[in-house]
Amino acid sequence: MQLAAGAGGEIDSAHAPILHSRIDSKGAINKWLATRDLRPTFECIRQDFGMSIAAKRQLDEHTNYWRVNQFMLPFYSLVPPQSKFPELSGHAWVPMDDNHTICLMFSYHPAEPLPAKMREVFEHGHNGRESAHASQDSFVKRDATVPYADYWTKYTRDNGFMFDYQSQVESWFSGLPGLWVQDGACQSGTSPIFDRTKEHLSSSDTGIAMTRRTLLEAAGAYRDRGAKPNGVENPDAFMVRAVSLTLPKTASWIEFGRPHMAATLGAGFGYQL
Ligand SMILES: [Fe+2]
Repeated sequence: MQLAAGAGGEIDSAHAPILHSRIDSKGAINKWLATRDLRPTFECIRQDFGMSIAAKRQLDEHTNYWRVNQFMLPFYSLVPPQSKFPELSGHAWVPMDDNHTICLMFSYHPAEPLPAKMREVFEHGHNGRESAHASQDSFVKRDATVPYADYWTKYTRDNGFMFDYQSQVESWFSGLPGLWVQDGACQSGTSPIFDRTKEHLSSSDTGIAMTRRTLLEAAGAYRDRGAKPNGVENPDAFMVRAVSLTLPKTASWIEFGRPHMAATLGAGFGYQL
C-alpha cells in the first residue's frame, strides 16, 4: 500500500491545477484547459493492466474535457499529454523499504524525439520546473553505502520542502519551489506511513479508493494462489497510453478513448491535443 501513497497524486488528477497553479503570469499551468473547471468528476474502470482513471471537466455547455490516467500494476502510472506539452509521461513507484519509495520518471513523444528545449528543461529546469523530477540540482549525494545514494532529494520534511513565503505571495500558489516538490510534499509530508483510518475521502478520491482495492486484491491473489499481476508475465498488457480528449458531452470516453489508449510503437497521438 505504500506504493499507492506516491502514485496517488497521479490517480487523483484533480490536484494538478490547484496544487501546481501559479499566481503570476509566468507559468503555462494557469492556462491549462483543466483550470477552467476545478471540480472534475471521476469515472474508473478496471483493465487488464490495472485501472483507467478518467477525470471529466465541463468546458462549455456541449463539450467535456477528459483526462484519463492509467495505473498499471504493480506500480506504474501514466499521465496524459497537455496541448502545450505534447509528451507522454509516467512514473515507476519502486519500493526501497517499508518507509521509502524511489520514483522514476519517464517522458517521451510517441512519434518523434523530444525537442531539445524540452530535454534541457528536464535536465536543468526553467522557471519553476528546475526542481522537477530529473533536475540535476535536486539531489543530495549520500554516502555510497546508502541505497540509491545519488537519488535523495534535497527537499525534505525536515526543511519544510523549502517552502518560501515570498514565493507564495508572488509566484507559486503553494509557496513550494517547483512541480515535483509540490507533489513530493503532499505525498510524503504527513508521515512515512499514514493511518488511513483517519482519512476523509471524497468523491474525487474514487480512483484512489479503487486503486487501493486493486492493490489489496493483487497482494491477496499472490499470497493465496501465487497469481501475479497480468503485466508481470505479459508485457503486451502494458501497451497503453494516457489520453486527454475533448469530446461532445454525449460521447463516451471509453468508446472514443479506446483506440487512442492502445499504444502502437511509433504512432503519433492520433487525436488533436
Ligand atoms: Fe502533481
